[in-house]
This record gives sequence, C-alpha cells and structure tokens, in this order.
Amino acid sequence: MHLIETRDLTFTYPGNVTALHHINFIAPRNARIAVIGSNGAGKSTLFKCFNGIFMPTSGTVLVRGEPITRENIREVRKFVGIVFQNADDQIFSPTVEQDVAFGPTNLGLDPETIHHRVHEAMRLVGIEDISHRVPHHLSSGEKKRVAIAGIIAMEPEVLVLDEPTAGLDPQGVRDLMAIINSLSKQYGMTIIFSTHDVSLVPEVAEYIYVMNRGRFVAQGTISEIFLQSEMLQSVRLDVPVLPKLIRNLQKKNIPLPMAYTFEDAERVFTETYQESIRHDR
Ligand SMILES: Nc1ncnc2c1ncn2[C@@H]1O[C@H](COP(=O)(O)OP(=O)(O)O)[C@@H](O)[C@H]1O
Ligand SMILES: [Mg+2]
Repeated sequence: MHLIETRDLTFTYPGNVTALHHINFIAPRNARIAVIGSNGAGKSTLFKCFNGIFMPTSGTVLVRGEPITRENIREVRKFVGIVFQNADDQIFSPTVEQDVAFGPTNLGLDPETIHHRVHEAMRLVGIEDISHRVPHHLSSGEKKRVAIAGIIAMEPEVLVLDEPTAGLDPQGVRDLMAIINSLSKQYGMTIIFSTHDVSLVPEVAEYIYVMNRGRFVAQGTISEIFLQSEMLQSVRLDVPVLPKLIRNLQKKNIPLPMAYTFEDAERVFTETYQESIRHDR
C-alpha cells in the first residue's frame, strides 16, 4: 500500500482555472520524491490535495489506501505534514518554542509528551538556542526551520515541503538539505518536496515528477530525468550542470562515469585522474 496516491486527480479553482489535470502520483514508504516545475506548474495546488486542504474536482487522493473524507481528515493531517512555501503563513506564536508546540498541543497530547516532542524537533533542526525569540523577527532560514520543527513535532509519517529552499541564502540551503536528508535517513520519514531549482534535486531525491501546466510530463529516477535536457528546457527548467558537464566531456572521449551530486562528481573526477596516472606509468 502506498502512503499517498492520486488517481486521475483533477482540480479546478473557482473561476474555472484547472490547475491539475489527471495526475497519477505515488509515494511509497521511505521515498524521497521531488516534484519539479516552473512557476504556475501546479506544485502547490497538488500538495494541498495531499492532506485535504483541497478536495479533488474529479479523481481520488488516497492516504494509506483510503480516500480522504471529512471523517478521516484529522487522521490524514496527523499523517501528512505540510510545510508551506511561505513560513510567515505558518508561524504566528509569540515565541519559537510556543510556535513549535502549537501543532502537538492541538493534537491533544499530554504536556510531558508535548515538551519532549517540541525539544526533540527544535534539536533536529538546530533552533534550540533561539527557542525564546520572537519568530516574526527571525531570518528566512530560521523561520523555515521553525515551520519545519512545528510540523515534525506532530511526528507525521510523510513530510511535504513546498519549495523549502526558496528565499534562503546558500548556507541556509545547505543546512536545510542536510536536515531533510537526516529526517529521511535517520527517522525514516517519507519526503516529498517541490522546487524549480534542479541542482538541489539529486542531493535529496531519488525519484522525480516533472510538472508543467498542471500535468506530469515526465517521471523517473534522477538518471532517467536528468539526461533529458531538451524536455527540461521545454518546460522552462535548467539542465543540471554536473551531468551536462560530464556528458560534454564524455563526448570528447574523456571516459568519465556519470555523476549527479557534487560528492559523486568529486569522486568520479579523482578516480579517473588517478587511473590515468597509473596508466601513464
Ligand atoms: N486561488 C487560486 N485561484 C485561481 N487560480 C489559482 C489559485 N491559486 C493558483 N492558481 C492557478 O493555478 C495554477 C497552478 O498554481 P500553483 O499550484 O500555485 O503552481 P506552482 O506552485 O507550481 O507555482 C496557476 O495557473 C495559478 O495561477
Ligand atoms: Mg507554488
């Protein structure tokens, strides 16, 4: 059974704007999935269908195999936690700690459990030292981490992040990627995130859906998607720089294996260089 599945999901906004057309999406347990697409592709609309903020105009959204209904929506929202693109929409308490406690308090947990979860969540995202600050005055990277802590304190099985790195500086982006990776690898959370920055995708995701004008135009593993440069360009996305560089070098008969992340590329270049020195001796 998949944790989240959409079958032929179509969603039309009032005023007759159809933002999603026949979307078939699957998130198996422990998956790390990226939904990539340029502005207006439908990423945020899709994510809002994952926990019943929007209900399908037609088609179905299944969570743990069950369609979302009025009756199970509370359970669904415990299970699927969404971090919205704009942290200001999600943060409103007078202190960081109170803000992180908002979700677990609403779940009706006992104070000891709430305290434990809030501190664990703040530790995970590295905001313990700012727990008494006013969220409103924090940097955008800090606000984003507060919003994430508030969601993970509810211990969802699936963490959905809508453009989590938008508006962050480079260090903020790296920190956030490390947090998301550890939530996946150490805590076994299923991760779904959206972005239009393709260079980030291989650092976290293993499977990609490419979205354009409310439709999935391609889906596959990193290697399946990232070598389709024309397709990516046709939907106004960048071609990731590392595979593009390696492919151009391969065309010049430099025998490099393909790599998608910075770490892999560094290893591949080093090994190829060492191999060539051995060969020369
Ligand atoms: N509240 C709304 N009412 C009408 N149309 C909307 C609304 N929100 C988004 N849309 C439209 O739905 C489409 C998808 O938007 P969105 O899901 O926000 O895309 P993305 O998150 O990929 O940028 C766009 O054409 C957008 O203009
Ligand atoms: Mg969006």
